[in-house]
Amino acid sequence: MDDILSQIASQEEATLSTLFEFLRIPSVSTDPALAGEVKRCAMWLADRFREAGFAAGAHPTGGHLAVVAEWRGAKGAPTVLVYGHYDVQPAEPLDAWTSLPFEPVVRDGNVCGRGASDDKGQLLCHLAGAAAHLKARRRLPVNLVFLIEGEEESGSVHLEPFLEANRERLTCDAVVVSDSSQFAAGVPALTYGLRGLAYLEAILTGPDHDLHSGSFGGAVRNPANALAAMIAALHDDAGRVAIPGFYDDVRPLEAWEREAFGRLPFDEAAYRRGLGVDALWGEAGYSTLERVWARPTLDVNGLWSGYSGEGAKTVLPSKAGVKLSCRLVPDQDPDRVAELLEDRLRALCPPGCTVEVRRLHGARPVLTPVDVPAVAATRRAVERAFGAVPVLIREGGSIPVVETFGRMFGAPVVLLGFGRPDDRAHGPDEKLNLDDFRAGVRASAWLWEELGKGGA
Ligand code: BES
Ligand code: ZN
Repeated sequence: MDDILSQIASQEEATLSTLFEFLRIPSVSTDPALAGEVKRCAMWLADRFREAGFAAGAHPTGGHLAVVAEWRGAKGAPTVLVYGHYDVQPAEPLDAWTSLPFEPVVRDGNVCGRGASDDKGQLLCHLAGAAAHLKARRRLPVNLVFLIEGEEESGSVHLEPFLEANRERLTCDAVVVSDSSQFAAGVPALTYGLRGLAYLEAILTGPDHDLHSGSFGGAVRNPANALAAMIAALHDDAGRVAIPGFYDDVRPLEAWEREAFGRLPFDEAAYRRGLGVDALWGEAGYSTLERVWARPTLDVNGLWSGYSGEGAKTVLPSKAGVKLSCRLVPDQDPDRVAELLEDRLRALCPPGCTVEVRRLHGARPVLTPVDVPAVAATRRAVERAFGAVPVLIREGGSIPVVETFGRMFGAPVVLLGFGRPDDRAHGPDEKLNLDDFRAGVRASAWLWEELGKGGA
C-alpha cells in the first residue's frame, strides 16, 4: 500500500482545497431559497467524481438531485455501495458562529464550517481514498458505486422510490456509510445501531384573535398555558414518556450490550461539563449511553407563542405551536408512534382550545449485523489508518436510508464514522479535526484493499 499512501500524502493540499470548495456551497436542503445552491453542489460533486475516474451523474429524484458515481472494473470482485449526503442543516443562528458557516477556515487543527463533519468532510474521505487507488494503480480492488444524496437532512423522502427505480444498478454486496462519529478522540468506532425518528408539529388555537390580557385574562383558556401543560404531561416523574403504548415495541437492551457499553471509556462528568449543564437527566434505570443509544425519547424541538420580542407586551395569544420529535429504537415503527403521540395530544387538548397536528418526516431505527466479513475488513482498515482497534457502539442519531438498504439489498451496512461526538454537527461552529480527516482518507484506501481480499 506504500504507493497509495504516498499518493494520498502528495495530494493532501489538493484534497483539502477540494474540501474547502465543497464547504463553500450552502447546500441547505430544507430551505427552498437555496435550491439552486443544492443543485450546484450536486453538479460540482459529480464533476469531482468524473475527475477521479468515475462514471458519474446527478439524477432527478422528485426532490434534490442524487449523485451516482460508478467504477466497475474489478471483474469478479465484490461491489461496494458508498452512501453519503451532500446536503447540510441550516446554519442559523448566524451570530453564534465564530467564523462564517460557508467560509471554511482552519482553527486549532480543525476545519470549521457547516457540513465539515456532517457529512461533506466524511464523504470526501471516501472519494479521496478511492481516487488514490485509481491514480496510483489505475484500478480499485472492488467495484465501487457512490450514492450521495441531497435530502438526508430533510428526511430522505424521495430516496426510497429512487432506490426502487435503480434497484439493479445499485445492487451491492456491502454498503459503507461514514456519517457518524468515533466514540471519542483517538477511539475510533464501528456503529451497529441507529435510532429512528417520528416528528410532528402541533398547533393549539384558543380565541380566534390575540386578546388584551387584562380585559380577557381569566375568562378564556390561554393556548400557551394549555400547550405547556400538555407538553408537561408527556413525561412522568421517572423520565419516561407518558403515552399509552409508547414502549410496547421497544426491544430491551441485551445483557452483553449493557456490559459492553459499561466498559467503554466514558467520562460522565466530562460529558456533562462539555454540555454546560450542572446535571444530566433521563429515563430512570438506564445509564447515559444506554439512554442515548438504545432507549426511545420525546423532545420539544421548537416552541412558539405570544410575544417574544424585546420588552413586555400584555397579550393573550390566539395560538401556540410546538415541534416534537421522538427518537425511536427497534422495533418501534415511526408511523405507529406518530399516531400514538397524535392521539395523546388530542386527548390532552382541553376545552376552549382546538389542536391541529401535522406529521413531518420519520426514520426507522436499525441494528446492523456485526458478525459479517465486511465488518471484520473494516476493523482491519481502521486499525491500519487510526492506529487503534475500533470499539463497537450504537448512536442516537438517524440515517433514514440505512434501514432501506438492509431491507432492499439484503446487504450488510457498515457504519464507520470519522467525526467526533463534539464536532457540533447541526450547531454553530461545526468542525472536523484535520487529523481525523487525513486518517479517514487512509482508512478509506485501506478499506477497499481489505474488502477486495474477500472481505465483502
Ligand atoms: N449524520 C447524522 C446522523 C447521525 C447523528 C449519526 C449522530 C450518528 C450520530 C445525519 O445527518 C442526521 O442528522 N440525520 C437526521 C435525520 C433526520 C432529519 C431524519 C437526524 O438524525 O436528525
Ligand atoms: Zn449526516
